[in-house]
Amino acid sequence: MKKQKLFSPGPVMVEDNVRKALLHPDICHRSSEFEELFQKLQKKICTLFGADDSYYSLVISGSGTAANETVLSSLFASSHDKVLLISNGVFGERLEEIIQKYQIPMLKIDTPWATPPDLKDVEQVLRENPDIKVIAMVFHETSTGMINPVHEVGELSQKYGKIFFVDSISAAAGQ
Ligand SMILES: Cc1ncc(COP(=O)(O)O)c(C=O)c1O
Repeated sequence: MKKQKLFSPGPVMVEDNVRKALLHPDICHRSSEFEELFQKLQKKICTLFGADDSYYSLVISGSGTAANETVLSSLFASSHDKVLLISNGVFGERLEEIIQKYQIPMLKIDTPWATPPDLKDVEQVLRENPDIKVIAMVFHETSTGMINPVHEVGELSQKYGKIFFVDSISAAAGQ
């Protein structure tokens, strides 16, 4: 079969060894064989990302958007908790759509596409709004190819005791 090169943001090309592994005979997802496989996979994902035993990986069988929605919709226990969204591209806008659908109170720092946020603005919003529970942002904004300053925002999130949600689709394992 002729291989096509994909240059689109989103779908990635599948390597032949992965494609061949998919030819494995079907197994039942309620069997102990599957449980063992799943647990092994969870451990391997942590190893891949240099995470120790204090971390736990959760595999979502869905799209990247489904994974983002799963996490964002699970973080808010009270209607008073706010999210600070830092957005500067299509996938930041998609996070906003999810946040709005779940009616999570939101503060937003949005800069024009491909423009990094001003960290002083981020810190000021955090200082003035102690009811922010979560900071959300995209690592690699695939729509523009821009890398956001997640390390710096992560430090602020630690300083102010916030949960830091990062959409790392198209960045994880590449950074
Ligand atoms: C940064 C980022 N977030 C979210 C998504 C959405 O992923 P999916 O198309 O699997 O829902 C993509 C897809 O390209 C992405 O690059």
